[in-house]
Amino acid sequence: MRVTIGITGASGAVYGWRMLQLLYKAGIEVHCVVTNSGWDVLKHECGVSTEDIHKVCYRLYDNNNLAAAIASGSFKTDAMVIVPCSMHSLGAIANGISHNLLLRAADVMLKEGRKLVIVPRETPLNSIHLSNMLKLAQSGVKIVPASPGFYHQPKDLAELVDMMVGRICDQIEIELNIFRRWQ
Ligand SMILES: Cc1cc2nc3c(=O)[nH]c(=O)nc-3n(C[C@H](O)[C@H](O)[C@H](O)COP(=O)(O)O)c2cc1C
Repeated sequence: MRVTIGITGASGAVYGWRMLQLLYKAGIEVHCVVTNSGWDVLKHECGVSTEDIHKVCYRLYDNNNLAAAIASGSFKTDAMVIVPCSMHSLGAIANGISHNLLLRAADVMLKEGRKLVIVPRETPLNSIHLSNMLKLAQSGVKIVPASPGFYHQPKDLAELVDMMVGRICDQIEIELNIFRRWQ
């Protein structure tokens, strides 16, 4: 399976970081792109560097490289997940703006009718955020807000994060067995 992971500058970088680590362990071919703000937040919230990300993906692209493989629909991918997704990137995708590689790769998923999962993180949400999300949902995008449940009674933050990552993976049909499901 070949999956693109995009990381933007929303809070919750830990979800993207954990997802990369788990997909790498599961042997998924992960193509990764991180925005400039995404790098800042990864460093600030997780202490993660470019080298760390390099180690857990098949390919890591420069967000300015619009000639990268994932910028073309002829390069086949099974799914793209943007985790976490800022309101800036979400708004750009909802309105067909593709001035960087992450945005272009998302636009490609839409035009090719492939699976695109967006994990937005912002609070509170204004009406522009909400209407952009509605637009995306009506275009077939799965909107999976970064709002983990508590019904599995997490003992720590790691269990909370894994619950969220597990629910994101459900959307792309990858079973990692990392959280207790409701029985
Ligand atoms: C520490 C930090 C946390 C942020 N958290 C959020 C957030 O949760 N949601 C959001 O939409 N923007 C957040 N931002 C603002 C975005 O980083 C900013 O809008 C940026 O332009 C997004 O660019 P990108 O979509 O290219 O990554 C945050 C910024 C910083 C520095």
